[in-house]
Amino acid sequence: MKHENIEKNIGLMIVLILVVVSFGGLAEIVPLFFQKQTTQPVEGLKPLNALQVEGRDIYIREGCYVCHSQMIRPFRSETERYGHYSVAGEFVYDHPFQWGSKRTGPDLARVGGRYSDDWHRAHMYNPRDVVPESKMPSYPWLFSNTLDGRLTAKKLETLRTLGVPYTDEDIANAKAEVEGKKEIDAVVSYLQQLGTVLKDKR
Ligand code: HEC
Repeated sequence: MKHENIEKNIGLMIVLILVVVSFGGLAEIVPLFFQKQTTQPVEGLKPLNALQVEGRDIYIREGCYVCHSQMIRPFRSETERYGHYSVAGEFVYDHPFQWGSKRTGPDLARVGGRYSDDWHRAHMYNPRDVVPESKMPSYPWLFSNTLDGRLTAKKLETLRTLGVPYTDEDIANAKAEVEGKKEIDAVVSYLQQLGTVLKDKR
């Protein structure tokens, strides 16, 4: 077929472009499914505990990802500020992962351990109490909302079907671990573990 025919037939051109682009895409993506580096957890990675799973769900519910990424890119300007760049193996238990790309606030991929629990509590209650120029919203209701743990075991079970290695014991204890705690406890516990597995390997 002459090239001219393709150029004059927009329908055919679209189909052929899609074929070419999908080959390129597959060549880039498919190998990632088989590379250990992208499918195996990094050494020492543990699944979130029951309270942290609840904290993560509150993080998603409150839309924290709208302003915060959890993905440090491998550039000097990023690693100087946030620490070791993120690697795929840190996220294999994260379903769905919270990489994001919008950074109204700082990246949180390695915020774990950077501040005390008290700092986080004060900051979540009213960010301007600790960072006067902050434009992050306040989340006072996290201090009064209590977790009932009704669905926690189910959440762990669901994550287990996706390959997160929870034991029967983890699932059996899930409700008791969170019941009666405040939402803020869950969020702080979640934040405090973020990125800590690779933290010191600069
Ligand atoms: C409207 C955008 C916005 C939203 C939504 C938001 N933040 Fe922030 N956040 C910021 C900004 C801006 C800063 C930097 C100023 C500060 O520290 O308060 C920040 C800072 C932080 C920090 C300190 C990071 C550091 O390295 O100093 C943490 C932790 C944090 N946010 C957690 C959260 C959590 C958890 C939520 C959801 C409950 C959330 N943020 C929602 C904008 C936002």
